[in-house]
Amino acid sequence: MQKRKTVLDIQRMKAEGEKIAMLTAYDYPFARLMDLEGVDMVLVGDSVGVAVAGYEHTLPVTMEEMIYHCRAVARGLGQGFLVADMPFLSYQVDLREARLNAGRLIKEGGAQAVKIEGGEHVADIVRAIVNMDIPVVGHIGLTPQSIHRMGGYRVQGKQDQQARQLLNDARAVQQAGAFAVVLEGIPAALAAQITATLDIPTIGIGAGAACDGQVLVIHDILGLCEKYSPRFVKRYADAATLIRQGVRSYIDEVKQGVFPGPEHSFS
Ligand code: KIV
Repeated sequence: MQKRKTVLDIQRMKAEGEKIAMLTAYDYPFARLMDLEGVDMVLVGDSVGVAVAGYEHTLPVTMEEMIYHCRAVARGLGQGFLVADMPFLSYQVDLREARLNAGRLIKEGGAQAVKIEGGEHVADIVRAIVNMDIPVVGHIGLTPQSIHRMGGYRVQGKQDQQARQLLNDARAVQQAGAFAVVLEGIPAALAAQITATLDIPTIGIGAGAACDGQVLVIHDILGLCEKYSPRFVKRYADAATLIRQGVRSYIDEVKQGVFPGPEHSFS
C-alpha cells in the first residue's frame, strides 16, 4: 500500500533542496491521475468557485462546497498530501468558528492541512488552528479573497513599504506555526528574499523560480479555462480542444445514426 506524504516529507523537501510540485484538484478523477504522476501536494482551492462553479471570484464558495470537493479529492489520492482552503467567511469572524471549520475540513473533508489567506492580521487564527494539531499553510501576497480591497488581481509588494509588510507577513505566519506558505503574485526578487529568510517552505504562484515549490490551478495548465490565462500560467496541454473534438464527434454520430453501432447494443 502507498504511503501518504506528511508534513515531515514537505519540510524534508525544503531541507534537501527538492522542489515541491503542488496542483489544485476538485474531483476524484483529476486527483487520482495527478497522484499517479507523483504530485507532492494537492490543494482543494477555493478557486473551485471560478474553475468549476463558474463564479466570477472565490468569495461565494461555502464550507459545504469545500467539504464536498475535498472528500472527492481525498478518495483519489494514494500518496499526495492534501490541503484544503478555508473559504471566505469561514475563519475571519471569530476564533471558535475558525477552529470548528478547520476541524470540519480535516474530519469531514479528509484534508491533512488547511490553507488560510492573510499575513500578520490572521496570525492569531493560524496559531489557534495549529494549537488544535491541524497543520496550516499560510497564503500571502495576492490573496484572491481580498479582491475588493486590492481592486482586482494585482501583483503585490512592488513598493518598498508593501514589500516590507509582506516580509513581516511571512515571518508572522511562520511564527504562528504555519508549516508552509503560498506566495502569490509578488515580484520574483521579493519571493526569493522571503524564501531565504523563512525556515518553512514557500510555494509560489506567480512568484518566480526561487520558491521552494510551485502551485498552479489544474484547469489552467491543461487549457481548460478559456476565459483568461494569467502570465504566470504555463499551458502543458490543450484539453479544451480535445474535449470539444470528442463532444463534436459524438453529436455528429448521434445525428447521423452512426452511434450506437451493433457493438454498443444488446441482442
Ligand atoms: O484557491 C486556489 O486555488 C489557491 C491557489 C491557486 C494558491 O489558493
